[in-house]
Amino acid sequence: MAARDHHHYHSKKNTPPSSSSSSSYTSFLFLSLLCLASLFLVFSLFKTSSKASLSPQHHRNFEFNPTETSETNNQVSSDRRLCDYSDGKWIYDPTVRSARYDHSCKEIFKGWNCIASNKSNALDIVKWRWKPNHCDLPQFDPLRFLQRYRDTNIGFIGDSLNRNMFVSLFCTLKRVSGEVKKWRPAGADRGFTFLQYNLTIAYHRTTLLARYGRWSANTNGGVLESLGYKEGYRVDVDIPEGTWAEAMSFHDIFIFNTGHWWWAPSKFDPVKSPMLFFENGLPVMPPVPPNVGLDMVLKHMTSYVERRMRPTAILFFRTQSPRHFEGGEWDQGGSCQRLQPLLSQEVEELFSLRNNGTNVEVRLVNQHLFKVLNRSGFNVLDITRMSEFRADAHPSTAGGKKHDDCMHWCLPGITDTWNDLFIAYLNNIKGRS
Ligand SMILES: *[C@@H]1O[C@H](CO)[C@@H](O)[C@H](O)[C@H]1NC(C)=O
Ligand SMILES: *[C@@H]1O[C@H](CO)[C@@H](O)[C@H](O)[C@H]1NC(C)=O
Ligand SMILES: *[C@@H]1O[C@H](CO)[C@@H](O)[C@H](O)[C@H]1NC(C)=O
Ligand SMILES: *[C@@H]1O[C@H](CO)[C@@H](O)[C@H](O)[C@H]1NC(C)=O
Repeated sequence: MAARDHHHYHSKKNTPPSSSSSSSYTSFLFLSLLCLASLFLVFSLFKTSSKASLSPQHHRNFEFNPTETSETNNQVSSDRRLCDYSDGKWIYDPTVRSARYDHSCKEIFKGWNCIASNKSNALDIVKWRWKPNHCDLPQFDPLRFLQRYRDTNIGFIGDSLNRNMFVSLFCTLKRVSGEVKKWRPAGADRGFTFLQYNLTIAYHRTTLLARYGRWSANTNGGVLESLGYKEGYRVDVDIPEGTWAEAMSFHDIFIFNTGHWWWAPSKFDPVKSPMLFFENGLPVMPPVPPNVGLDMVLKHMTSYVERRMRPTAILFFRTQSPRHFEGGEWDQGGSCQRLQPLLSQEVEELFSLRNNGTNVEVRLVNQHLFKVLNRSGFNVLDITRMSEFRADAHPSTAGGKKHDDCMHWCLPGITDTWNDLFIAYLNNIKGRS
């Protein structure tokens, strides 16, 4: 929770040196009590709000009263119920005005440009609107967003699914403010400043968050060599990848993700090229599987971020984006040919952990994320449930690859809704502070 973080910094600043006089010691005691009392207040507020929430989920995705953020004056806003955005359904609305941007936005990666590549339902994808059960999730207003977040830097840090979300935000903003400088701040893969508003958004590419690279056995031997390892990838669980290590001092708002690459045996083959985890520069012994390595990386990286961020920075972690391969894995002829969202029951069949299907990693990754994020200063951007329905919204055969792309999303498409969610949360956080 942001409030808790601010407190943390506040109390650190007020900690006197150990050689303090008795009067400053008294004031330290007083301040500590004050902090304790307000922490207690924050906690009890949080407890009340989670009790009141209608959410079936228990993770720390905070909920709030939509009156504070709604950009439209909807009916629910007179109601003081709290909203869980992940609980809802997709509604087809053929009257929906055209998408917030179109296929001419140059930043759209070719394989995601479903309109340009003639995917049969490409224009239909944005006619589905996410309707949370107890409130509305309005489309954010790009002009108001630019005005409100003048002089702000926003960093997306993660894999290509975070780039997909970044491109959606870029294209939406570009439509209303065309004067853009292209550059690569703080190690970014790509970035843009909307000059009229001095607002920068950047994408920092990193698949595992942690640094990794090829490893091969040393002829002089070593502990991994003695266990028979010959080739693999060395993953340093406590070292951030260089593409974003410096981003902490640059951005004001962060959206992190990781997940897909932890379940990618075609790259990290458990036998031929396993992940080999290192901590403090030494191999983790005994060697651990990727799911344990993921926990270690998440623990170290979230703590790195919280240590290095600016005191006023706002942190988001996005939950795992679902894939929709049916009939096999991506490299075994799996495809996604649906033209409409799934029904609830179909979602369960495809994703339930019990069925252990092709796309099982989505909910597994989330379990790992929540374990760490629950106890952190990150806001959880839970896009998983809403996205699980959208088997129709991937590029599929229009992705221009040898296999179907049932992992990335068509643009315009559902990552536009992810940004609505992101900005609704952000406005709420800003509204409170
Ligand atoms: C999509 O359709 C248009 C018009 O029929 C055609 O000119 C274009 O080449 C097609 N694009 C692809 C990638 O097939
Ligand atoms: C643009 O915003 C940054 C903060 O992100 C600030 O440091 C800088 O001074 C701003 N530039 C101008 C020209 O206002
Ligand atoms: C899930 O399925 C995969 C292969 O499809 C298999 O290797 C694995 O052992 C299964 N896991 C469980 C828990 O059943
Ligand atoms: C996250 O925290 C909630 C309570 O705030 C708890 O009910 C839930 O089990 C936790 N999840 C994990 C994965 O630790």
